Amino acid sequence: MRNRTSRLSGFYKLGRDERLAEVQAVSGLDEAGVEALKNSSALPFELLDRLVENAIGGFTVPVGIATNMIVDGRDVLIPMATEESSVIAAVGNTARQCRDTGGFTTSISGTEMIAQIQMVKLTDPWAARAKILEKKAEIADICNGCDPLLVKLGGGFRDLEVRIVDGQTGPMVVVHIIVDTKDAMGANAVNTMAEKLAPNLAAWTGGKHHLRILSNLADRRVARARAVWRAADIGGAEVVEGIVLAADFADSDPYRAATHNKGIMNGVSALTLATGNDTRAIEAGAHAFAARTGRYRSLSRYEITAGGDLAGSIEIPMALGLVGGATKVHPTAQACLKILGVGSAAELSRIAAAVGLAQNFGALKALATVGIQQGHMTLHAQNVAIAVGAAGDEIAEVARRLAETHTVRQDVAEQILAEIRGRK
Ligand code: MEV
Repeated sequence: MRNRTSRLSGFYKLGRDERLAEVQAVSGLDEAGVEALKNSSALPFELLDRLVENAIGGFTVPVGIATNMIVDGRDVLIPMATEESSVIAAVGNTARQCRDTGGFTTSISGTEMIAQIQMVKLTDPWAARAKILEKKAEIADICNGCDPLLVKLGGGFRDLEVRIVDGQTGPMVVVHIIVDTKDAMGANAVNTMAEKLAPNLAAWTGGKHHLRILSNLADRRVARARAVWRAADIGGAEVVEGIVLAADFADSDPYRAATHNKGIMNGVSALTLATGNDTRAIEAGAHAFAARTGRYRSLSRYEITAGGDLAGSIEIPMALGLVGGATKVHPTAQACLKILGVGSAAELSRIAAAVGLAQNFGALKALATVGIQQGHMTLHAQNVAIAVGAAGDEIAEVARRLAETHTVRQDVAEQILAEIRGRK
């Protein structure tokens, strides 16, 4: 092992084996680790290397199918990429329980993205704002000129907003260009437009342009979903009331809202990843949207219908694309999109909102009744059993006995495994 250093000059120029040898030399990684990385992906290394810099391997996350979903009258198979057990099963179970009421009904506010241009060093921000608003037609031309293909596809510049934001360094003028990016997530399109436009803004106002970047608070791309669960199908009036109380807790308390919304994102992010979309963009948008009133709140709502059933609904920004980035080049993402059978990014986004609601209902129902551990523990126990070296039939037995003890811990699993092996 060489001295541990992270200064690996020219690393990017090396081939995969050479990179692994370098990493091994400075990190002390053993042969088994090197082999694990070499065999870590079924994708050709050239593709991995094209997707990210300095690639040394892949990281396989399971993809599973959530069954039973009906979205806007259509049966849809939901591919979900996640490392967390219970997530996929929960969506399927939840969706089954609202099939009789028609499943999920969805809509979306649009497919518009916002790019921001920060203007600084302006002594007269309000006058600058007025000057920029006067140039709307010219701004539209500059933006559309950056992406004639998008315009041809029916997208392009839609609107202009100019805000005065009071920062600690003084007021700044923040220009929003609003662009319909159609089936693209749109980051590249709007970032290019913002960079092109910025010098013009500086020339018109006498200020200085600074940052030029999209906003992940995609509040012009809000997907909505709703569903009704009949009281009789989910355990009665007590369960309905229990879920409403749980939802009220989340909407009233940020500590609970964070976990509640994390549960929603278990489903949304798994579908996002399966389709090769940017999970961090979706997460950032969701959490910022949840805090849009100035207090971090729940993304979903639950009410009791006139007939005593449970009506759930969700609103969540959903900047998902069908074209561009990993979505287009990753064969698994392409396969997942085929499974979904979606014709547009808007349709994908609406399905994602439905998945978020399904996931959320599943978590709340468990939490409001038996608790989350019962379902989680069986699957978690299997993972712990595998982690301590159980193989074949041993896995199920170790997992069962672990779950029975209600202490799903590695040391307990080791003891059980030793006992089983001692018996043989
Ligand atoms: C776990 O990944 C997600 C939950 O914590 C969500 C929730 O509490 O609503 C179960």
